Amino acid sequence: MTPRPLPATLLLVATLLLVGTACLPGIGGTGVALSSNPAMHQVPGQPQLTPEPAASTDPDLDRAQAAAQAFSTQLRGRLQAAMRDGGPTAAVAICNAEAPAIAEAVMGEHGLRLGRVALPGRNRHPVQAANAWQLTTLEAFQQAVDGGAPAGGQVAVMREGLPDGIALRMMRGIVTEPGCLACHGSEIATDIRQAILARYPDDGATGFAVGDLRGALWVEVPATTATTGDTP
Ligand code: HEC
Repeated sequence: MTPRPLPATLLLVATLLLVGTACLPGIGGTGVALSSNPAMHQVPGQPQLTPEPAASTDPDLDRAQAAAQAFSTQLRGRLQAAMRDGGPTAAVAICNAEAPAIAEAVMGEHGLRLGRVALPGRNRHPVQAANAWQLTTLEAFQQAVDGGAPAGGQVAVMREGLPDGIALRMMRGIVTEPGCLACHGSEIATDIRQAILARYPDDGATGFAVGDLRGALWVEVPATTATTGDTP
Protein backbone atom coordinates (compact mmCIF):
# COMPACT_ATOMS: atom_id res chain seq x y z
CA MET A 1 0.00 0.00 0.00
CA THR A 2 3.01 2.31 -0.09
CA PRO A 3 2.91 4.81 -2.90
CA ARG A 4 5.23 3.76 -5.70
CA PRO A 5 6.63 5.44 -8.77
CA LEU A 6 4.09 5.29 -11.52
CA PRO A 7 4.60 3.67 -14.90
CA ALA A 8 6.12 6.03 -17.45
CA THR A 9 2.92 6.31 -19.43
CA LEU A 10 1.18 7.74 -16.42
CA LEU A 11 3.85 10.24 -15.46
CA LEU A 12 2.35 12.98 -17.57
CA VAL A 13 -0.98 12.86 -15.87
CA ALA A 14 0.63 12.00 -12.60
CA THR A 15 2.36 15.33 -12.54
CA LEU A 16 -1.06 16.90 -12.56
CA LEU A 17 -2.44 14.89 -9.67
CA LEU A 18 -0.84 16.85 -6.87
CA VAL A 19 -3.69 18.05 -4.75
CA GLY A 20 -5.93 15.63 -2.97
CA THR A 21 -3.96 12.49 -3.65
CA ALA A 22 -2.38 11.99 -0.29
CA CYS A 23 -4.92 9.54 1.09
CA LEU A 24 -5.23 7.45 -2.04
CA PRO A 25 -2.80 4.57 -1.91
CA GLY A 26 -1.03 4.06 -5.17
CA ILE A 27 -1.54 7.54 -6.49
CA GLY A 28 0.96 10.29 -6.22
CA GLY A 29 4.07 9.68 -4.18
CA THR A 30 7.74 9.70 -4.76
CA GLY A 31 7.84 9.27 -8.50
CA VAL A 32 5.94 12.41 -9.30
CA ALA A 33 7.78 15.07 -7.39
CA LEU A 34 8.84 16.96 -10.50
CA SER A 35 6.16 19.61 -10.52
CA SER A 36 4.45 18.56 -7.37
CA ASN A 37 5.14 21.69 -5.40
CA PRO A 38 1.89 23.60 -5.05
CA ALA A 39 3.87 26.61 -3.87
CA MET A 40 4.99 27.06 -7.45
CA HIS A 41 1.57 28.33 -8.25
CA GLN A 42 0.71 30.11 -5.10
CA VAL A 43 2.50 32.93 -3.37
CA PRO A 44 1.97 32.48 0.34
CA GLY A 45 -0.18 35.16 1.87
CA GLN A 46 -1.27 36.56 -1.45
CA PRO A 47 -4.54 35.90 -3.17
CA GLN A 48 -4.21 34.46 -6.63
CA LEU A 49 -5.15 37.23 -9.00
CA THR A 50 -4.47 35.70 -12.36
CA PRO A 51 -7.09 33.20 -13.44
CA GLU A 52 -4.50 30.67 -14.53
CA PRO A 53 -5.63 27.71 -16.51
CA ALA A 54 -5.85 24.74 -14.22
CA ALA A 55 -2.26 23.60 -14.51
CA SER A 56 -1.85 21.95 -11.17
CA THR A 57 -5.39 21.00 -10.35
CA ASP A 58 -7.71 18.75 -12.22
CA PRO A 59 -11.33 18.91 -11.15
CA ASP A 60 -12.29 15.74 -12.99
CA LEU A 61 -9.50 13.75 -11.45
CA ASP A 62 -10.22 15.24 -8.05
CA ARG A 63 -13.81 14.11 -8.38
CA ALA A 64 -12.79 10.63 -9.46
CA GLN A 65 -10.42 10.29 -6.55
CA ALA A 66 -12.85 11.65 -4.00
CA ALA A 67 -15.52 9.23 -5.15
CA ALA A 68 -13.11 6.29 -5.24
CA GLN A 69 -11.98 7.14 -1.76
CA ALA A 70 -15.53 7.43 -0.45
CA PHE A 71 -16.53 4.14 -2.02
CA SER A 72 -13.54 2.17 -0.71
CA THR A 73 -13.77 3.65 2.75
CA GLN A 74 -17.48 2.97 3.12
CA LEU A 75 -17.30 -0.50 1.67
CA ARG A 76 -14.32 -1.46 3.79
CA GLY A 77 -15.93 -0.06 6.91
CA ARG A 78 -19.13 -1.95 6.27
CA LEU A 79 -17.33 -5.20 5.51
CA GLN A 80 -15.16 -4.96 8.60
CA ALA A 81 -18.15 -4.25 10.81
CA ALA A 82 -20.07 -7.17 9.30
CA MET A 83 -17.12 -9.51 9.79
CA ARG A 84 -16.80 -8.39 13.38
CA ASP A 85 -20.48 -8.61 14.19
CA GLY A 86 -21.59 -11.70 12.33
CA GLY A 87 -18.50 -13.42 10.96
CA PRO A 88 -17.73 -14.07 7.32
CA THR A 89 -20.89 -15.98 6.52
CA ALA A 90 -23.09 -13.10 7.58
CA ALA A 91 -20.67 -10.71 5.90
CA VAL A 92 -21.24 -12.43 2.57
CA ALA A 93 -24.93 -11.57 2.79
CA ILE A 94 -24.16 -8.01 3.77
CA CYS A 95 -21.59 -7.55 1.05
CA ASN A 96 -24.08 -8.97 -1.42
CA ALA A 97 -26.76 -6.52 -0.39
CA GLU A 98 -24.70 -3.48 0.42
CA ALA A 99 -21.82 -3.33 -2.05
CA PRO A 100 -24.17 -2.32 -4.87
CA ALA A 101 -26.10 0.02 -2.56
CA ILE A 102 -22.94 1.79 -1.46
CA ALA A 103 -21.87 2.15 -5.09
CA GLU A 104 -25.28 3.61 -5.96
CA ALA A 105 -25.14 6.09 -3.11
CA VAL A 106 -21.61 7.25 -3.94
CA MET A 107 -22.47 7.57 -7.63
CA GLY A 108 -25.48 9.68 -6.79
CA GLU A 109 -23.64 11.87 -4.38
CA HIS A 110 -20.64 12.43 -6.65
CA GLY A 111 -22.49 12.52 -9.97
CA LEU A 112 -20.36 9.90 -11.72
CA ARG A 113 -20.16 6.17 -12.25
CA LEU A 114 -17.95 3.71 -10.45
CA GLY A 115 -17.67 0.11 -9.44
CA ARG A 116 -15.38 -2.84 -9.01
CA VAL A 117 -14.40 -5.39 -11.61
CA ALA A 118 -12.27 -8.49 -11.90
CA LEU A 119 -10.81 -10.37 -14.81
CA PRO A 120 -13.53 -12.40 -16.54
CA GLY A 121 -13.67 -15.80 -14.92
CA ARG A 122 -12.21 -14.43 -11.71
CA ASN A 123 -15.25 -12.35 -10.81
CA ARG A 124 -17.85 -13.10 -8.17
CA HIS A 125 -20.78 -10.94 -9.24
CA PRO A 126 -21.60 -11.70 -12.88
CA VAL A 127 -21.83 -8.04 -13.88
CA GLN A 128 -18.42 -7.39 -12.41
CA ALA A 129 -16.41 -9.06 -15.13
CA ALA A 130 -14.24 -6.35 -16.65
CA ASN A 131 -15.41 -5.27 -20.12
CA ALA A 132 -13.82 -3.38 -23.01
CA TRP A 133 -11.72 -0.53 -21.59
CA GLN A 134 -11.75 -1.97 -18.11
CA LEU A 135 -10.47 -5.26 -19.42
CA THR A 136 -7.62 -3.70 -21.38
CA THR A 137 -6.56 -1.75 -18.34
CA LEU A 138 -6.99 -4.59 -15.89
CA GLU A 139 -4.96 -6.89 -18.13
CA ALA A 140 -2.19 -4.30 -18.18
CA PHE A 141 -2.34 -4.15 -14.39
CA GLN A 142 -2.15 -7.92 -14.20
CA GLN A 143 0.84 -7.96 -16.52
CA ALA A 144 2.61 -5.38 -14.38
CA VAL A 145 1.83 -7.35 -11.23
CA ASP A 146 3.05 -10.57 -12.86
CA GLY A 147 6.25 -8.68 -13.53
CA GLY A 148 6.64 -7.86 -9.86
CA ALA A 149 4.85 -4.53 -9.53
CA PRO A 150 2.60 -4.03 -6.48
CA ALA A 151 -1.08 -4.71 -7.15
CA GLY A 152 -2.21 -1.81 -4.98
CA GLY A 153 0.08 0.57 -6.86
CA GLN A 154 -1.62 0.13 -10.22
CA VAL A 155 -3.33 3.30 -11.42
CA ALA A 156 -4.48 4.40 -14.83
CA VAL A 157 -6.02 7.72 -15.77
CA MET A 158 -7.51 8.12 -19.23
CA ARG A 159 -8.58 11.33 -20.91
CA GLU A 160 -7.92 10.81 -24.58
CA GLY A 161 -10.14 9.04 -27.06
CA LEU A 162 -13.05 8.68 -24.67
CA PRO A 163 -16.64 8.39 -25.86
CA ASP A 164 -18.68 11.58 -26.03
CA GLY A 165 -19.92 12.71 -22.68
CA ILE A 166 -17.09 11.18 -20.69
CA ALA A 167 -14.35 13.46 -19.44
CA LEU A 168 -12.16 11.03 -17.58
CA ARG A 169 -11.77 7.42 -16.65
CA MET A 170 -9.69 6.16 -13.80
CA MET A 171 -8.85 2.69 -12.63
CA ARG A 172 -6.99 1.55 -9.58
CA GLY A 173 -5.73 -1.92 -8.69
CA ILE A 174 -7.17 -3.71 -5.66
CA VAL A 175 -4.72 -5.87 -3.77
CA THR A 176 -5.64 -9.07 -1.94
CA GLU A 177 -5.03 -8.64 1.78
CA PRO A 178 -5.03 -11.27 4.54
CA GLY A 179 -8.55 -10.23 5.54
CA CYS A 180 -9.85 -11.06 2.08
CA LEU A 181 -8.80 -14.70 2.11
CA ALA A 182 -11.79 -15.96 4.08
CA CYS A 183 -13.92 -15.22 1.03
CA HIS A 184 -11.42 -14.95 -1.84
CA GLY A 185 -8.59 -17.28 -0.80
CA SER A 186 -7.79 -20.86 -1.68
CA GLU A 187 -9.29 -22.54 1.35
CA ILE A 188 -12.77 -21.27 1.98
CA ALA A 189 -14.65 -22.71 4.94
CA THR A 190 -17.61 -24.82 3.88
CA ASP A 191 -20.31 -22.60 5.35
CA ILE A 192 -18.80 -19.52 3.75
CA ARG A 193 -18.46 -21.32 0.43
CA GLN A 194 -22.12 -22.26 0.64
CA ALA A 195 -23.18 -18.73 1.49
CA ILE A 196 -21.23 -17.48 -1.51
CA LEU A 197 -22.49 -20.10 -3.95
CA ALA A 198 -26.09 -19.55 -2.86
CA ARG A 199 -25.82 -15.99 -4.18
CA TYR A 200 -23.15 -16.37 -6.84
CA PRO A 201 -23.45 -19.83 -8.39
CA ASP A 202 -20.81 -18.99 -11.01
CA ASP A 203 -18.35 -17.54 -8.52
CA GLY A 204 -14.81 -17.35 -9.87
CA ALA A 205 -13.38 -15.08 -7.21
CA THR A 206 -11.48 -17.59 -5.11
CA GLY A 207 -7.94 -18.88 -5.20
CA PHE A 208 -6.34 -15.49 -4.57
CA ALA A 209 -3.25 -15.12 -2.39
CA VAL A 210 -2.07 -12.12 -0.39
CA GLY A 211 -0.51 -9.60 -2.77
CA ASP A 212 -2.45 -10.82 -5.79
CA LEU A 213 -4.39 -8.37 -7.90
CA ARG A 214 -7.97 -9.08 -6.81
CA GLY A 215 -9.49 -6.68 -9.31
CA ALA A 216 -9.84 -2.97 -9.81
CA LEU A 217 -11.93 -0.01 -8.88
CA TRP A 218 -13.07 2.01 -11.88
CA VAL A 219 -14.48 5.53 -12.08
CA GLU A 220 -16.02 7.33 -15.03
CA VAL A 221 -16.47 11.08 -14.77
CA PRO A 222 -19.02 12.62 -17.12
CA ALA A 223 -18.13 15.69 -19.14
CA THR A 224 -19.73 18.87 -17.88
CA THR A 225 -20.32 22.04 -19.82
CA ALA A 226 -18.76 24.36 -17.27
CA THR A 227 -15.11 23.40 -17.22
CA THR A 228 -13.40 26.47 -15.88
CA GLY A 229 -16.21 28.53 -14.47
CA ASP A 230 -14.64 31.77 -15.73
CA THR A 231 -16.06 31.91 -19.22
CA PRO A 232 -16.79 35.56 -20.07
C1 HEC B 1 -17.24 -11.85 3.82
C2 HEC B 1 -16.74 -12.28 2.57
C3 HEC B 1 -15.84 -11.34 1.81
C4 HEC B 1 -14.67 -10.78 2.24
C5 HEC B 1 -13.98 -10.95 3.57
C6 HEC B 1 -14.18 -10.01 1.12
N1 HEC B 1 -15.03 -10.08 0.06
FE1 HEC B 1 -14.77 -9.29 -1.78
N2 HEC B 1 -16.57 -9.94 -2.34
C7 HEC B 1 -17.45 -10.63 -1.53
C8 HEC B 1 -18.73 -10.69 -2.18
C9 HEC B 1 -19.98 -11.35 -1.62
C10 HEC B 1 -18.61 -10.01 -3.39
C11 HEC B 1 -19.69 -9.74 -4.43
C12 HEC B 1 -20.33 -8.40 -4.05
C13 HEC B 1 -21.30 -7.90 -5.05
O1 HEC B 1 -22.32 -8.56 -5.27
O2 HEC B 1 -21.03 -6.83 -5.62
C14 HEC B 1 -17.23 -9.55 -3.46
C15 HEC B 1 -16.73 -8.84 -4.53
C16 HEC B 1 -15.47 -8.31 -4.57
C17 HEC B 1 -14.92 -7.58 -5.69
C18 HEC B 1 -15.64 -7.19 -6.97
C19 HEC B 1 -15.32 -8.07 -8.12
C20 HEC B 1 -16.05 -9.37 -8.09
O3 HEC B 1 -15.35 -10.40 -8.07
O4 HEC B 1 -17.30 -9.39 -8.08
C21 HEC B 1 -13.66 -7.22 -5.35
C22 HEC B 1 -12.68 -6.44 -6.19
C23 HEC B 1 -13.44 -7.70 -4.01
N3 HEC B 1 -14.54 -8.38 -3.57
C24 HEC B 1 -12.28 -7.50 -3.30
C25 HEC B 1 -12.13 -7.84 -1.97
C26 HEC B 1 -10.97 -7.48 -1.18
C27 HEC B 1 -9.77 -6.72 -1.69
C28 HEC B 1 -11.18 -7.96 0.08
C29 HEC B 1 -10.30 -7.80 1.30
C30 HEC B 1 -9.93 -6.44 1.65
C31 HEC B 1 -12.47 -8.63 0.07
N4 HEC B 1 -13.01 -8.52 -1.18
C32 HEC B 1 -13.01 -9.29 1.16
C33 HEC B 1 -17.17 -11.19 -0.32
C34 HEC B 1 -16.07 -10.87 0.46
